[in-house]
Amino acid sequence: MKLLFIADIVGHPGRRAVKELVPVLRKRNAVDVVVANGENSAGGSGITVNTACEIFSAGVDIITCGDHLWDQKEVTELLNGEPRFVRPLTYPAWVPGQGSTVLRAPGLPAIGIINLQGRTFMPALENPFPCVLSEVERLRQSVKVLFIDFHAEATSEKIAMARMLDGKVSAVVGTHTHVQTADEQILPGGTAFLCDAGFTGPHDSVIGREIEPIIRRFMTNMPQKFEVAKGRVLLQGALIEIDGHTGRAVKIERVSEPLVEEARSV
Ligand SMILES: [Fe+2]
Ligand SMILES: [Fe+2]
Repeated sequence: MKLLFIADIVGHPGRRAVKELVPVLRKRNAVDVVVANGENSAGGSGITVNTACEIFSAGVDIITCGDHLWDQKEVTELLNGEPRFVRPLTYPAWVPGQGSTVLRAPGLPAIGIINLQGRTFMPALENPFPCVLSEVERLRQSVKVLFIDFHAEATSEKIAMARMLDGKVSAVVGTHTHVQTADEQILPGGTAFLCDAGFTGPHDSVIGREIEPIIRRFMTNMPQKFEVAKGRVLLQGALIEIDGHTGRAVKIERVSEPLVEEARSV
């Protein structure tokens, strides 16, 4: 089976890329399931019911999140009532929402999806390492295919996580830095890994935002408004082929697909 993961969808340009390119990529690669990180889908900060709806309508099955979880108040509606929305597992148990879900679709093996958040250079949540081990153990009682979106800043934390889970899950893909790494690989135990999948949105930018205000902020340390940028929209992520019987990954490739109308106008 083939799983397409879409890295952090940033604002309207990111949602437009998802709307136009997910159907194309689904067809071209015979994709069975699509998971997308939606933490920046609402104006670059957080997620709302409407932006989640747009993403689901484009053919995304499950939306994961990250440290921008609380940027939009409306997220509580998704946390309380949307079974296809997964927030980082590393919140205390009483926090609304779920840290994992199992997707059961006709003709496909059950697919477990876990969202984690790192702690190095990030707000301190629970420790993702012990948290994920018990969650993986619980899910593996009924599910062979397990996908993890590890939302974290430090490459070392993401590599350590993937190495710890090698042979226990089908794939560990990192998000959050918005910069796609070139280290896609299948680890010795059969776990696919990519340290960071990048972001889906305007790449003539500083990780999705207009360039000038970010430079001004670094120059002056004065607060600036960071608008979502516009140019060179890419859908980024990873395409992973998994043996549905064993849960082992067979292949992983990076995805960095230009939005066609943008490509034409360049
Ligand atoms: Fe992000
Ligand atoms: Fe993030």
